Amino acid sequence: MKGRILTTGGAGYIGSHTTVELLKAGHSVIILDNFENSDRDRVARIPLIAGAADVRLVEGDVRDAHLVADVLKRHEIDAVMHFAGKKAVSESVADPLLYYHDNITGAVSVLSAMRDAGCKKLIFSSSATVYGDPDMLPTRETAPTSASNPYGRTKLIIEDIIDDTAVSLNGFQAISLRYFNPVGAHSSGLIGECPRGLPNNLFPYIAQAAAGVRDYVHIHGNDYETSDGTGSRDYIHIVDLARGHVAAVEHLLSTSTDHAPHRKVNLGTGQGHTVLEVLHAFSRACGFQVPYRIGPRRPGDVATSLADPSLALALFDWKPQFDLEKMCWDHWNFQKRELDKLNSGMRMPHLMHDVVADHATLNGTHPSALGNRDALN
Ligand code: NAD
Ligand code: UFG
Repeated sequence: MKGRILTTGGAGYIGSHTTVELLKAGHSVIILDNFENSDRDRVARIPLIAGAADVRLVEGDVRDAHLVADVLKRHEIDAVMHFAGKKAVSESVADPLLYYHDNITGAVSVLSAMRDAGCKKLIFSSSATVYGDPDMLPTRETAPTSASNPYGRTKLIIEDIIDDTAVSLNGFQAISLRYFNPVGAHSSGLIGECPRGLPNNLFPYIAQAAAGVRDYVHIHGNDYETSDGTGSRDYIHIVDLARGHVAAVEHLLSTSTDHAPHRKVNLGTGQGHTVLEVLHAFSRACGFQVPYRIGPRRPGDVATSLADPSLALALFDWKPQFDLEKMCWDHWNFQKRELDKLNSGMRMPHLMHDVVADHATLNGTHPSALGNRDALN
């Protein structure tokens, strides 16, 4: 069954890749984003990559429940994927109220709007961070949860809010996808992750060190109980992750009832890689050794994080396809293109605006007459 899907934060790293995969699977998509951590150029590339133009952009804030309800009703949305929110652990420690305010208000706003508009299917971006320092490896969804920072606590609180909402609204169905470590980029090299400022995460840091933007990679500790002493994670290719969302939403669209109205489901590969393994694989992808230095542990890090992804396979027949080599290759391919663009001072044309122009021409309207709130309506 094909649906009309709202992707909040659909211009972001995970949202943009998921929007591409939704379009490729024949769904139509409305993106709602305020561009606080993304830009219009990335949105412009989505229809090019997907080879489909059934995507519209609404520029606005998810914390505005009236706007969200209006979008849900006007576009007759069948399901919502809620990506929008803040995600930097260190920022959440420095400014917890910002995270509680933005992430929780955003989720409450989306849920209220869904209730008011009668939209009953939700996919929520949760995180493996809800497992804290897991004692069960690989980790199943039934493992105990805990939060070690305010960002992680917002994910746990939102999962609880969805639990309560699902009980109160007849027929409401939700899946919280607990992502392990999403990395890589679309194989076209047109979309990927480009953090503003100093990257927090390993892959973008390695990519910037490989590109010469950073001197070397700081390895945070080599005295963990892992095969080589460096931290081990379950990295998942962003396109596999995106396809996991498509499988999950198609599961929701094809079922009207479920004895568990809010399911929590891991998206990971079940394969772990240490920091050194990633660094060597990345060095193979770019053809030279990426420089690194071993330093002390990073406060708050766990030794190992590893998914048991079997529930996603059982529930919606999803399994990841891409290995670490492909993750590194695609990440580097994207990073190189970004560098080339910077070096040549080139900017992507505003292709979305071209699409607006085409669309508007078809409807006899000039793009300048369109409100910027609903630029592709
Ligand atoms: P991202 O920052 O690239 O994307 C988030 C998007 O939401 C951005 O386009 C941003 O402009 C938009 N946004 C933020 N606040 C908004 C608001 N109030 N109204 C409208 N739009 C808003 O992040 P991402 O990596 O794509 O992550 C998406 C979701 O997945 C987040 O909820 C994040 O917490 C979760 N997550 C991410 C990871 C990861 O490693 N990237 C891991 C686990 C969970
Ligand atoms: N690491 C380094 N050097 C760096 C960055 C990271 O050695 O410059 C190491 C870390 O110590 C860790 C591994 O690389 O062992 C992965 O670190 P990331 O920061 O890339 O990822 P984390 O697993 O620490 O955290 C990420 C997100 C969290 C999310 C979690 C689970 O940042 O928000 O994955 O999804 F909750």
